[in-house]
Amino acid sequence: MYRNHTCGQLRLADAGKKVTLAGWVQRTRKLGGMTFVDLRDRYGITQVVFNNEVNAELCEKANSLGREYVVRISGTVSERQSKNSNLPTGEIEIIADDVEVLNKSEIPPFTIEDNTDGGDDLRMKYRYLDLRRNCVKENLELRHKMAFEIRRYLDSKGFLEIETPILVKSTPEGARDFVVPSRMNPGEFYALPQSPQIFKQLLMVSGYDRYFQIAKCFRDEDLRADRQPEFTQIDCEMSFVEQEDVIEMFEGLIKHIFKYVKGIDYTEPFLRMTWHDAMRLYGSDKPDLRFGMQFVELTDLVKGHGFAVMDDAELTVGICVPGCASYTRKQLDQLTDFVKRPQTGAKGLVWVKIEENGDIKSSVGKFFSEEDLRAWAEKMEAKPGDLLLVMSGPAMKVRKQLCDLRLEMGERLGLRDKNVFAPLWVIDFPLFEWDEETQRFYAMHHPFTAPNPEDIPLLKTDTGNVRATAYDIVVNGTELGGGSIRIHDSQLQDTMFELLGFTPERAHEQFGFLMNAFKYGAPPHGGLALGFDRFVSILAGLDTIRDVIAFPKNNSGRDVMNESPSPIDDSQLEELNLTITLPEKKD
Ligand code: AMO
Repeated sequence: MYRNHTCGQLRLADAGKKVTLAGWVQRTRKLGGMTFVDLRDRYGITQVVFNNEVNAELCEKANSLGREYVVRISGTVSERQSKNSNLPTGEIEIIADDVEVLNKSEIPPFTIEDNTDGGDDLRMKYRYLDLRRNCVKENLELRHKMAFEIRRYLDSKGFLEIETPILVKSTPEGARDFVVPSRMNPGEFYALPQSPQIFKQLLMVSGYDRYFQIAKCFRDEDLRADRQPEFTQIDCEMSFVEQEDVIEMFEGLIKHIFKYVKGIDYTEPFLRMTWHDAMRLYGSDKPDLRFGMQFVELTDLVKGHGFAVMDDAELTVGICVPGCASYTRKQLDQLTDFVKRPQTGAKGLVWVKIEENGDIKSSVGKFFSEEDLRAWAEKMEAKPGDLLLVMSGPAMKVRKQLCDLRLEMGERLGLRDKNVFAPLWVIDFPLFEWDEETQRFYAMHHPFTAPNPEDIPLLKTDTGNVRATAYDIVVNGTELGGGSIRIHDSQLQDTMFELLGFTPERAHEQFGFLMNAFKYGAPPHGGLALGFDRFVSILAGLDTIRDVIAFPKNNSGRDVMNESPSPIDDSQLEELNLTITLPEKKD
């Protein structure tokens, strides 16, 4: 028997019990004739005491234990003299009568503590040690609990969990595929699924009218804090549903998780906003609604004052930042620098201070009278003490730039509290997105998304303005999930492919099996996928999804622990009929 209790289990009520614990040595301390060993396992830390006067040999053994040694300790639970209220086991200690080293450890490259001395790279290289840290462990526990509750909720609603393949057909839409060569079919490749989208639609054709899967997805795209090359979706699909049914079902799921995992009870329906309003009022299709500072458009008000930047701009738009009229010149210059960063790419920033005493100061006094600026302030509902930040340019560009600035101001003012959650449905997305570079339309969601029935007549005449029956769920400025009602009519699907620039042959080559399936009685259907990693990291209050993934990749898509990706043997390449041509190195 290695243990009969865990290191997080024993309490004062257990005093007097003979116990055996096993775990890792967190630290040892010598105090006079006593040696204290903190023994750690997944469940907690228990203090073990060795008394030199009682058993010198045993105490000597305890003194030789190094950090992270794996040991078994037997002894008697006893009330502690000096209690530690920070530890759940802090009222007791074990008076040891035996200790056995089960395995030694080299000195770990960083301390296994919440506040570790290990940098990011080092912790990722030794991720199996990083995972011993309590704060990392808690994230994985949360992940487990959420997965469990998600299954419980969806099962109670009659959803079937069905696995779909990992080796699938490469499709050209969306992100880049990861591909896998087929040995048995020389020259041919599988792709790893970007999502189970087509399979879940096929399952609807097969009559499995409520499907879900906690599914691994793979996308070869540029990585960010909320993007990993392999990630997990809570992928769902339902038949005989309209948008409202899907939203209701998954709003229910999200509320269930908030309630059971965070103890937050949402009694009201989540807010909803059209894509157009989200862009107009927040410059983003995933607005952070934890704070205000809605955009106010000033275009008409600012034209004709000889200020070319505003005269020539398609849009002039601003935010009113509460209580920041006291910003110094230096702080305002910093904000200007912020919007000029390459990531934001603005040319400049106009500011107007509404001082506490009612005075107005601005960076555009040369062009605008105090009266003009008061009109701005009035339109923006500014109060004394507020700061107006205004930008001009091409509409979509300037909205994105001001969105960056709004988020920055929210951050500076401490309005992006991680314990506050602001869920929002963004609806009525456009069906298509125009790409200047390739001069063609792309599906904003994916090519199987149904147009809003009211807009079907516009498909060929006003393509850019057709609304989709697509919806995103956004929490705190992060796109948590998205979905749509699908096209289930093959003729409409043909039109969609045509508008997306597919020839009928190419559409058939890529999606023939789905289009064929639709000939055999496809029910009306729709669904959604939530980013599971994002969901966990939002609830854990973390900045990156890496922290909720046991073995994540770094920003270059590398696993620095197992050093992948890595070259493969020539014999493997030969078997796959592949030759590698590396790009020439530039000096
Ligand atoms: P979509 O592409 O919007 O939709 O993805 C759904 C959700 O998955 C999460 N997500 C990611 N999470 C981490 N790393 C990534 N690289 C990554 N990419 C996406 C996001 C996103 O909202 N098949 C459709 C869903 C549907 O229509 O039912 C789909 O995949 O949280």
